[in-house]
Amino acid sequence: MSKVAIITGASSGIGAAAAKSFHAQGYSVVLAGRDADRLNDVAKSLIGAVTWTGDITASEACDQLVAFALSQFGRLDVLINCAGVIHRYTAEETTDDQWHNTMGVNLNAPFFLSRAAIPHMKQEGGVILNIASDWGLQGGQLAAAYCASKGGLVLMTRAMALDHAKDKIRINAICPGDVDTPMLKIESQQRGIDYDSAMIENNADSPTGRITLPDEVAALCVYLASDVAAQITGTAIPIDGGNTA
Ligand SMILES: NC(=O)c1ccc[n+]([C@@H]2O[C@H](COP(=O)([O-])OP(=O)(O)OC[C@H]3O[C@@H](n4cnc5c(N)ncnc54)[C@H](O)[C@@H]3O)[C@@H](O)[C@H]2O)c1
Repeated sequence: MSKVAIITGASSGIGAAAAKSFHAQGYSVVLAGRDADRLNDVAKSLIGAVTWTGDITASEACDQLVAFALSQFGRLDVLINCAGVIHRYTAEETTDDQWHNTMGVNLNAPFFLSRAAIPHMKQEGGVILNIASDWGLQGGQLAAAYCASKGGLVLMTRAMALDHAKDKIRINAICPGDVDTPMLKIESQQRGIDYDSAMIENNADSPTGRITLPDEVAALCVYLASDVAAQITGTAIPIDGGNTA
């Protein structure tokens, strides 16, 4: 029986790349997101993939997503908390809605989904991967809410990993630097700067001279979910061309 992975934020960027990579590894994949059309666009080339549409900021929705995966495939092996949002403003510019949206998607949803998934992973073990950020390890300008959410996600990862190591559930955070996804377009819009100029700046800022590709983050997810990574839990691994070095 193939292993089963839930991937949130699967309609674009890193989540879509992870869905394709896990499918290629033989996983049954559950693609979760808010937009059914965009999810179906990703899922149509992945034979056997299923989609779930909803807003994961509500704990009830997270319970439903896990129940849906179990109803479709009867088991759950991997949860990838990839959905995320960013609002590039200072604290004084950030609205209540932007703060709550950031916490809701980036921190609350990984908590609610992990809480729902863990009981179903206890028998055979499992893996939870939280897509955090290098801005969960260090501060960034115009990102107080985002850094708070991702820093919280990194420490939540470490704490949960300690609690569930004996259950054979491994929990790790992945901390990308800039990745070539729609999120960078959103950021340049929020900062009021031209996207092409932002990309030149982002590439130049990286010690390797380029930003990271979604497939490179997906490959790290596949590795961390595999049995050869059995001793890796409670970590926060940068994938950022050396930015946090
Ligand atoms: N792109 C980068 O430079 C970068 C850097 C570090 C970390 N990250 C993190 O990587 C993850 C994936 O982002 P990405 O770069 O692929 O960008 P993206 O914008 O392509 O993906 C984010 C996804 O989250 C989904 N989402 C947002 N709110 C949601 C909600 N309420 N319910 C369900 N889904 C929701 C969006 O629809 C989208 O598909 C995010 O957690 C992001 O913070 C990205």
